[in-house]
Amino acid sequence: MDQNGLKLAAAAAALQYIEDDTIIGVGTGSTVNFFIAELLKVKHRIKAAVSSSEASSKLLLAGGVEVMELNDAGTLSLYVDGADEVTANLAMIKGGGAALTREKIVAAASKIFICIADESKLVQVLGTFPLPVEVIPMARSFVARELVKLGGHPEWRVREIDGVMKPVVTDNGNWILDVHGLKITDPVAVETIINQITGVLTNGLFARRGANILLLATSDGVKTIV
Ligand code: 5RP
Repeated sequence: MDQNGLKLAAAAAALQYIEDDTIIGVGTGSTVNFFIAELLKVKHRIKAAVSSSEASSKLLLAGGVEVMELNDAGTLSLYVDGADEVTANLAMIKGGGAALTREKIVAAASKIFICIADESKLVQVLGTFPLPVEVIPMARSFVARELVKLGGHPEWRVREIDGVMKPVVTDNGNWILDVHGLKITDPVAVETIINQITGVLTNGLFARRGANILLLATSDGVKTIV
């Protein structure tokens, strides 16, 4: 099975956790896009969704799912999202899609976080994938210097638009630093330390509030790691 097949398998496995007439938290990314496609098939069963990005909101709305503000939804029973890296202890690096802050907020407001991933995302030590850090734009250079002091190599995330390199702007109007070279053996400590740097909105370590369940799609089937 190819990687998209594995992503679909993990996404489809998350459907069994949906309870009727509830509001579902929906993450961001290519694996979640498969989940949204599956969710649309059973949309009559759910009340609404709370989304972690404008991109996911668009897909949900286009499919006829009501998208609610988190402020109006209260505590969510379930949040489903992907990861860039995940450990067997269910700590993650997220934010490859620049949605880390809203993802962290919706995850924090949910009782159960289900991480859906293909087996390429499972690692023993987090940090091969550069750690995304969302920064207030005026603090970019200061935060980058502080991250260097922690042993990282921050890189300002840019992308080409009409032949010109431009900073990636998050849904919150901020910028992303991708921090290379961190070997994160204590994810809770690193998450806490980076969040203390003035100008950091949040970082892509999800360790203080990791996932509750990992649905890991492998060539031998979807494994459930709790
Ligand atoms: C977006 C995220 C995604 O969950 C993460 O990047 C994984 O994406 P994909 O499913 O496309 O590999 O954190 O901010």
